[in-house]
Amino acid sequence: AVMVGRRVRSRKRWWRVVRALDEFEEAAATPVGRLRQVVDAMAVEMHAGLASEGGSKLKMLLTFVDNLPDGSENGIYYALHVGGTNFRILRIQLGGQRSILGHDVERKPIPQLLMTSTSEEFFDFIALSLKEFVEKGNDLQLAQVRGKDLGFTFSFPVKQTSVSSGTLIKWTKGFAIEDMVEKDVVQCLQEALSRRGLDMNVAALVNDSVGTLAVGHFLDKDTVAAVVIGTGTNACYLERADAVIKCQGLLTTSGGVVINMEWGNFWSSHLPRTSYDIDLDAESQNPNEQGFEKMISGMYLGDIVRRVIFRLSLESDIFGALSSKLSTRFNLSTPLMAAMHEDDSPDLKEVAKILEETLDIHDVPLKVRKIMVRICDVVTRRAARLVAAGIVGILKKTGRDGTGGITSGRVKGVKSGKMRRTVVAVEGGLYTSYTIFREYLNEAVAEILGEEIAPYVILKMMEDGSGIGAAMLAASNSARSVDTVQ
Ligand code: GLC
Repeated sequence: AVMVGRRVRSRKRWWRVVRALDEFEEAAATPVGRLRQVVDAMAVEMHAGLASEGGSKLKMLLTFVDNLPDGSENGIYYALHVGGTNFRILRIQLGGQRSILGHDVERKPIPQLLMTSTSEEFFDFIALSLKEFVEKGNDLQLAQVRGKDLGFTFSFPVKQTSVSSGTLIKWTKGFAIEDMVEKDVVQCLQEALSRRGLDMNVAALVNDSVGTLAVGHFLDKDTVAAVVIGTGTNACYLERADAVIKCQGLLTTSGGVVINMEWGNFWSSHLPRTSYDIDLDAESQNPNEQGFEKMISGMYLGDIVRRVIFRLSLESDIFGALSSKLSTRFNLSTPLMAAMHEDDSPDLKEVAKILEETLDIHDVPLKVRKIMVRICDVVTRRAARLVAAGIVGILKKTGRDGTGGITSGRVKGVKSGKMRRTVVAVEGGLYTSYTIFREYLNEAVAEILGEEIAPYVILKMMEDGSGIGAAMLAASNSARSVDTVQ
């Protein structure tokens, strides 16, 4: 009788696990119909954000970038990239004719302490790192520098006042240097550079998505939008200047202007939100903000998975005794989650190892390891498919999704040769290093667009794109290039 009782109890617990998992999967589901609602909501919010300041959760920020690099740029330029887990410094040599002759990058993790320090300390660290990098550069290259122009990629929402100045609107992704909010970020950097005796000129201040668009366009002129899926997520695209209603009379030489959407803050009731997302948001540094980002980007995906396993171990003993490590935020990083998801060993060795080493969960049977993989799959698939819906939203807003042209199942644009080739540049670790994520994303874009339109839309991977692009924009906006011509 005792045996039976125990078996019944454990079966009951197992049933709870199954139920919790099913509920989670259902809440997180992204059938194509739901994705299409997200596409429409994205396009609607884009309109609203362009119509008036504060008209939408999408800020649709003006970047003052109206001419994207066309490949003719040449010379040596530097770029700084601040905004994610790593801080990057780059030097590139452009040779005209769409060629990049050389390119050095240095990556440094940003010390956690600095992310919540003062602007002076923060920029001093950056200036010092840049100085060391410039001084290490080999003399021959330095001799050819025609002016030390710097592109500054600052991956946070900035209200630009020109192509090379702007103030920080708010922090995202766990940064919190309070005295910087509403300050001009270029001025902060420029002051730190002079404190360090570094004579460099910030010629372009750009969001990482804008840098990615710039390099995409340098390499392929059909590139009209860019997406970043790294620590955070965002997108930008080329808009007609006259569509930016909130900036009446905006005149640009090209008639176009790049808009930084800040789509991480997008919100719609159509998003497949689960109780884990609600808790993650409530416990975050910025509740009610960056809702789209919290379902998609690298800072959060691992933590959603952690929350699901935590709940399962409260409800059952499938993960053994409750591990205290499971209750701490961010204890499971997204790269480790990806490693579990992509474990292709027959007995899921990697999954077991990561559970042991990072969460102190030991000896889980294969059946439970498989559950881990399933949870990672649900979280990643939803994230990738939401990005796909966002991308198609941009295509829809810019008239490149083939709709409006479809009559009785035929695509007018395609038949009359009107469909344009559209390239979207994509950067960030989730796309470049997480194969399953990339495949889900590519697949979902094709699924939403349908087979007649999909061949016209190409997603191109850009590694280090945002930094290189900032250097290219520094080149095209360089004041010193005038001196060189003379
Ligand atoms: C966050 C920032 C945004 C950036 C994105 C990707 O969403 O607010 O500016 O582009 O992360 O790094």
